[in-house]
Amino acid sequence: MGCINSKSSDGSALVPAGGLKSSDQKFEKAYKLGEELGTGAYSVVRAAIRLGDKKKVAVKIVTKSRLKKADEEALRHEVEVLQSLQHENIVALFDVFDEPQEMLLVLEYIDGGELFDRIVAKTYYNEKEARDLVSLLLRTVEHCHDKNIVHRDLKPENLLLVSKAQDSDIKLADFGFAARVKPGEESLTTACGTPGYVAPEILNKAPHGKPADMWSIGVIMYILMGGYPPFHDENKKKLYALIKNADYEFHADYWGNVSDEAKDLISKLLTLDTKKRFTVKQALQHSWITRADSELESRDLNSNLVALKRFNARKKLRAGIKTVVAINRWKNLIGGIKSDRESVEMIRPSECVAPDPADLAAEANRQ
Ligand code: ADE
Repeated sequence: MGCINSKSSDGSALVPAGGLKSSDQKFEKAYKLGEELGTGAYSVVRAAIRLGDKKKVAVKIVTKSRLKKADEEALRHEVEVLQSLQHENIVALFDVFDEPQEMLLVLEYIDGGELFDRIVAKTYYNEKEARDLVSLLLRTVEHCHDKNIVHRDLKPENLLLVSKAQDSDIKLADFGFAARVKPGEESLTTACGTPGYVAPEILNKAPHGKPADMWSIGVIMYILMGGYPPFHDENKKKLYALIKNADYEFHADYWGNVSDEAKDLISKLLTLDTKKRFTVKQALQHSWITRADSELESRDLNSNLVALKRFNARKKLRAGIKTVVAINRWKNLIGGIKSDRESVEMIRPSECVAPDPADLAAEANRQ
């Protein structure tokens, strides 16, 4: 088994450059595992307490037996990427334990929950609040892109809030799909990402790079402001066709009150041609991002909060079902029974289409 130590926010230790370093320490000797925080295809994230100082951390546990060579490579990348990205808005990696059955990544524990949960709890929402979030996301991604790192799985679930007390600080999590690109090149070829947020060039299996993250930011911004996703179809093939054609629109019922300036930035991000799609630096210079607070505060987004609540509730339902499926797979794994990976893919809960305005009005009246 091995262990590497990384810089913690309390400054305790540093990751040595060049990958995993052997150590005799066992994870169980240093940490006590707690509640589950999330699940992925081959991993589960759990809370834990560092026994030395009782500090709460998050631990991503990856079952090695399920990893193919490419997955192992991706895990190694995740570690390397997190080591090289030390930024206040990126989840820090403290330790890595390479145990016989599992790889354990000890991460900074983020206390505030998911960003979208906080937004939907708001009673008042306007373009300034949306702009501040998009701007923070852009600055965080700028840090990654400056280091030639592409996240490749930007989505609301990976935007965590630093604390429950204040909602302006987000941390970008889950670099499981992140990769390095050569400066100025779109050199990546492995398909990855989450349907709905994934860029068309990835679906087309074309070489991709930083522009793929910018597309995902466009999708996140669309949802933040409209309350529902730009691309949706229950049928994956049809969904992919919509994305490949950038086939989305600003429905008047939801976008009538949203500024043209905000819609312009979304359009510049949801652009098929990667050469024409806005880079992170261009996006940061867009007038909607640099507009005075007072002006954006007067542009109300309250009416779309109801749609966002609905979208978020469905996202939670989907995550809940995935967790149950993942737990069953883990149980099967532990019991030595091979589980059927396809079953996860087949569970496609309810639609996230532009909601019917009449439904939303009724819902709003009930509140
Ligand atoms: N869920 C996934 N990663 C997390 C983290 N680092 N802290 C808290 N919850 C998480």
